Amino acid sequence: MKQKITYVSLESDASMHVSYEAALSGFERNFGHRYPLYIGGKGFEPAGDFAVRSPVDRDIIIGYFQEAGENEAHAAIRVAKEAFPAWSGTDPAERIGALRKAADLLERQVFDLAALITIEAGKTRSEAVAEVGEAVEMIRYYAAVYEKSDHFTVRMQPEAPGGVSLSTMRPHGVWVVISPFNFPLALAAGMASAALLTGNTVVMKPASATPLTGIRLYEAFIQGGVPAGAVNLITGPGAPFGEAVTSSPDVDGIAFTGSREVGMWLQRAFVVKQPYPKPFIAEMGSKNPCIVTDKADLDKAVEGVVRSAFGYGGQKCSATSRVYVHRDVAEAYARALIARTEELKVGDPRERDVSLGPLISEAAQKTYEAAVALALKDGGRVITGGGVCSEGSRARGYYVRPTIVAGLAQDHPLMRDELFVPLLCLRTFASLPEAVGLANETEFGLTAGIFSEDEGEVDYFFDHIRFGVCYANRQGGATTGAWPGRQSFGGWKASGSTGRGAGGPYYLFSYLREQAQTRL
Ligand code: ALA
Repeated sequence: MKQKITYVSLESDASMHVSYEAALSGFERNFGHRYPLYIGGKGFEPAGDFAVRSPVDRDIIIGYFQEAGENEAHAAIRVAKEAFPAWSGTDPAERIGALRKAADLLERQVFDLAALITIEAGKTRSEAVAEVGEAVEMIRYYAAVYEKSDHFTVRMQPEAPGGVSLSTMRPHGVWVVISPFNFPLALAAGMASAALLTGNTVVMKPASATPLTGIRLYEAFIQGGVPAGAVNLITGPGAPFGEAVTSSPDVDGIAFTGSREVGMWLQRAFVVKQPYPKPFIAEMGSKNPCIVTDKADLDKAVEGVVRSAFGYGGQKCSATSRVYVHRDVAEAYARALIARTEELKVGDPRERDVSLGPLISEAAQKTYEAAVALALKDGGRVITGGGVCSEGSRARGYYVRPTIVAGLAQDHPLMRDELFVPLLCLRTFASLPEAVGLANETEFGLTAGIFSEDEGEVDYFFDHIRFGVCYANRQGGATTGAWPGRQSFGGWKASGSTGRGAGGPYYLFSYLREQAQTRL
C-alpha cells in the first residue's frame, strides 16, 4: 500500500521515523563517489573536481564533483539549444506527463532524498521530508495550472466574421536555472519544472554545497521522460559559469535563487552582454519582520517566531530576523521567547530530537560569530545564545546557538542586512503604524508576519505592509513555510524581480512570451 506522507511533520507517524532512519543508515554506501557533468544525456569528466563535505560532519565526503569551466557551460547551452525545437514541439500533454512522472519518482524516494538533504544541507528530518514534499507538490501544482488553463491559450475577438484570433503563450528557448543550497531540491525543482513544462530547455546549476541533491533531481527528470539534452546539469564554481551564461547569445532566460549580491551581478551582466532584453527571474534575500501587538496571542507568537527565526538555522530567505513587539507586552513576550528558544536542541540533524542542525559552512559560522561580536560592541544585549557549540561530535560541523539580540538601533547593520544565521533582533514599538513603518524600512520585501487577535489590526497590516508574502497569526511559522498552491512565494524590491510568486497561479507566465495568432 502506498504510504501516506504528510510532509510537514513526522511527529504524528512513528513508521516514518523508521523509514527515514533505514534510509539514513543505508546512506553511507553513497559517499565518496565521483559524479560527471550531464550534457545531452552523457556524463563528462573534464579535468579537475572538487570534494563536497557534509556540514553535519566534515569527515564525511559526500562525493567528488566536476569543476566545469566556461567551455563546459557553453557545451551544455549548445545542447539545450539543439533540443529546443523537439521539446517545445512536443504535445504539452506529453510534457505534463513526463513532469508528473518525475514528481512521482521523487515522492517514491522521499526518505532517501530526505536523508541526502540531511547529510548534504544539514536539515533536520522533518525539514528534509517537508522539502521533498514541497518539490513534489510544486511540480504537480504547475502541471495542474498549465493543464487546466489549456496552456494559457485564450480566444480573443475575431478580426472578421469566420476568423479566429488567439492569444497563445510560447516558450523562449534555453533557460539557465541556478539554485541555492538551502532548498536544494524544492527550489531547483520549482524553477526547472516550470521551464520544462512550458516547453523550454534547461541547463541546471546546483549550489556547490549541495550538488548531489541536484543530480538526483536531474535523474528524476530524465527517468520521468524529459529527453536527454532538454535538461542538462553543470557543477562547479559560479564565476566561469556566470560569465558563460550571461554572455552566450543562446541563453534566452535565467532563473536564479540565491543572494542579492550574486543575483544583481547576474542581472547587470545579462543586460550588458546580451543583444536585446531577455527575461531574468530572481528570488533573492530578505530581512523579514514580524510584528507582535498587545492584542496577540503570545503563545502563538512565540511558537511562530521561534520556528521562523531558527528553523534550519535561519538559513531561509523567508526566515524572520526582526521582531517588533508592543512595549506593553514586550517583557512577557521576551521571557517566553527566550524560554522556548532555550528548549531547542542543537546537534546532529540525523538524531530524532534535534531541532537545529549545523550551518552550511565555516564562512556562515564566521558570519554568525562576527554578528554576535558586532551586536555586543554596539551596545546590543544578547538575551539568549551567542556562541558556537563545539562539544563532542558538534566539533566536526558548524553548530551555533540560536541567538536573540535586543536593543539595537533600527538602522544598525544587523537590523538591515541579511545574515542567513540564527540571529533574531528584537525591538519594541508603541503603535501599529509605527511598527509597520519600521517593518517596511528595508530595501528587501519577501515575507512579513503579524500576531494580533484584532481583525482591524490585521487589516491595517495587510493594507500597509510592503512585502510579497504576508501572514497573520501563523503559529507553524510566522514568515516561513510557503507551500505550492497555498501561497505564491515572490519577493518585492531587492527580494525579487518578477512580481509573480513561485507556487502561485501566475508563475509559469515568467517562462513564456505571448504570441497573437490571427487567422482570416
Ligand atoms: N517555501 C519556503 C519557505 O517559505 C521557501 O520558507
